[in-house]
Amino acid sequence: MSITMDTHPTVTSDAITFDGIGKHYQRSGNRLQVIEDCSFEIGEGEFVSVIGPSGCGKTTLLGMAAGFTAPDDGKVRIGGEVVRGPDPSRGVVFQQYAVFPWLTVAQNIGYGLTLRANRRSRKQRREIVAHYVDLMGLNGFEDVHPKDLSGGMRQRVAIARAYATNPSVLLMDEPFAALDAQTREYMQELLHTTQLEEQRTALFITHSVEEAIFLSTRVVVLRARPANVRAVIDIPIAFPRTPDTRLSNAFVDLRRDIERLLRDGTAERSSE
Ligand SMILES: Nc1ncnc2c1ncn2[C@@H]1O[C@H](COP(=O)(O)OP(=O)(O)OP(=O)(O)O)[C@@H](O)[C@H]1O
Ligand SMILES: [Mg+2]
Repeated sequence: MSITMDTHPTVTSDAITFDGIGKHYQRSGNRLQVIEDCSFEIGEGEFVSVIGPSGCGKTTLLGMAAGFTAPDDGKVRIGGEVVRGPDPSRGVVFQQYAVFPWLTVAQNIGYGLTLRANRRSRKQRREIVAHYVDLMGLNGFEDVHPKDLSGGMRQRVAIARAYATNPSVLLMDEPFAALDAQTREYMQELLHTTQLEEQRTALFITHSVEEAIFLSTRVVVLRARPANVRAVIDIPIAFPRTPDTRLSNAFVDLRRDIERLLRDGTAERSSE
């Protein structure tokens, strides 16, 4: 998929495929099978949330797409290519520690554009940084250091930095988990608006069913360890989603269904 934008002449987003993934860890001499035969895909420009019980292997799956962790079985493909290691074409946002404390807001957002893989001229860098400062509502804070920002603003910087390098996919691991409820809803709305404008393929991990529904085209529900796909739920709620979306019948019904699937997925494993 290609869309045109002033700051990035072409934006190409790639599909992500998890195909028969298995992974174990060794813990105190015991073999811990974390993921087993896990398959799902995220289409080009699609926003998919992955939700599942705590410790079921979500971060491990994201780490495989990022190229930080290799699967024992199966393959992760991005744009048809098997992931074999980290690559600057993937934007990653973590729950914490996502910004460099020694750089200003503008320097953090532009950081990836100073590295060889995504290097841009000073003028282009200024334009791209200005675009994301604007999109993330960070105007007036360009020269501020992260310690002088709220948690929500710091995560806005992290998200802006991930988008700024023109990534082929965005991988986000509970980026809003540490925020208070109000800031969190605001951040979801901001991310949703950004996504409507930029249409990057996104894998988003969360514990919040509401957050998953609000942001996503589809939600993947994982079973407890060893994790694999319990259900993939389409979210047929029209864009753009607004604060009122959360109150609609469709939203409330989906929330109830997904919460039930999550509970059943956990109970199923613990009774084995
Ligand atoms: N490097 C490692 N060595 C050993 N065990 C690990 C390692 N990384 C993760 N684990 C274990 O694998 C399981 C899955 O971890 P992972 O972090 O992927 O889960 P998660 O679904 O992201 O959890 P959470 O919901 O708490 O973020 C956990 O039991 C964890 O303790
Ligand atoms: Mg995790």
